[in-house]
Amino acid sequence: MRTVYVNGEFVAEDEAKVSIFDRGFLFADSVYEVTSVLDGKLIDFAGHCRRLRRSLRELQMTLRVSDEELLDIHRHLVEKNEIEEGLIYMQVTRGAADRDFAFPPEDTPATLVLFTQIKGLLDSPLAARGQKIFTVEDQRWGRCDIKTVQLLFPSLAKMESKSKGGDDAWLVRDGLVTEGSSNNAYIVLDNGTIVTRDLSNLILHGITRRAVLECARHLQMKVEERPFTIEEAKDAVEAFSTSASGFVCPVIEIDGTTIGSGEPGPVASKLREVYITEMRKAAI
Ligand code: PDD
Repeated sequence: MRTVYVNGEFVAEDEAKVSIFDRGFLFADSVYEVTSVLDGKLIDFAGHCRRLRRSLRELQMTLRVSDEELLDIHRHLVEKNEIEEGLIYMQVTRGAADRDFAFPPEDTPATLVLFTQIKGLLDSPLAARGQKIFTVEDQRWGRCDIKTVQLLFPSLAKMESKSKGGDDAWLVRDGLVTEGSSNNAYIVLDNGTIVTRDLSNLILHGITRRAVLECARHLQMKVEERPFTIEEAKDAVEAFSTSASGFVCPVIEIDGTTIGSGEPGPVASKLREVYITEMRKAAI
């Protein structure tokens, strides 16, 4: 049985409790982060902390726990649950209060919950085979840059893709790809240029995206941050996605059209390898 963290305490997972009045439960008034663990160490923890603080700020939410304390909690959970490879999920809500659309008083304590998931990340069968993607109209709200727990639409989109035999969905707004259901989306043009959506309120500013683009630039790969259409993606020689849980994961099919050779391409494979090597070196 896992040890999890709830509001200052480490408890067995079946003893963890959150109020039914919690605004995370009632309003999805809540933000989260997912940090990967390799070799029992945290990947890009500083990046995830920075984004958590930004999400909190954008929603005027206060968490009276410092980054150092968050690091200690993460490390304690890794140790307690003997996580060599896997994920740590962290969620902050605006706390519990009588149901009201208006925010509760400032002094209402935030709810902080963390738990671990053991998961094989390095030897991913999906990364070895490559993902089949189906595109779905992006019907999320206009602040996709805030990592909130409003994940019903991405969940529906993923299920729509799965119902057609796909692995994941890429979301499309005004004819342009925004991102994957829970990852950032990329294509590689025949001149070798990597194209991914530019940062705005319409996509999550991926922590993996930032690190992978840095790897690409170090490898002298050309990167263009701009919108692209499904047609451009279908004509690409490669495609892939990035996220904390999937690292760099190749895409081999979009809406039934084979991408490139139909196998994971050299750009995605190289970026996956270099990203993993670099992040393992810097893990804490
Ligand atoms: N998802 N875009 C969306 C919509 C996401 O939900 C995620 C992450 C990303 C990639 O961000 P990062 O590289 O920081 O993980 C992009 C996490 C992994 C999840 O919800 O499980």
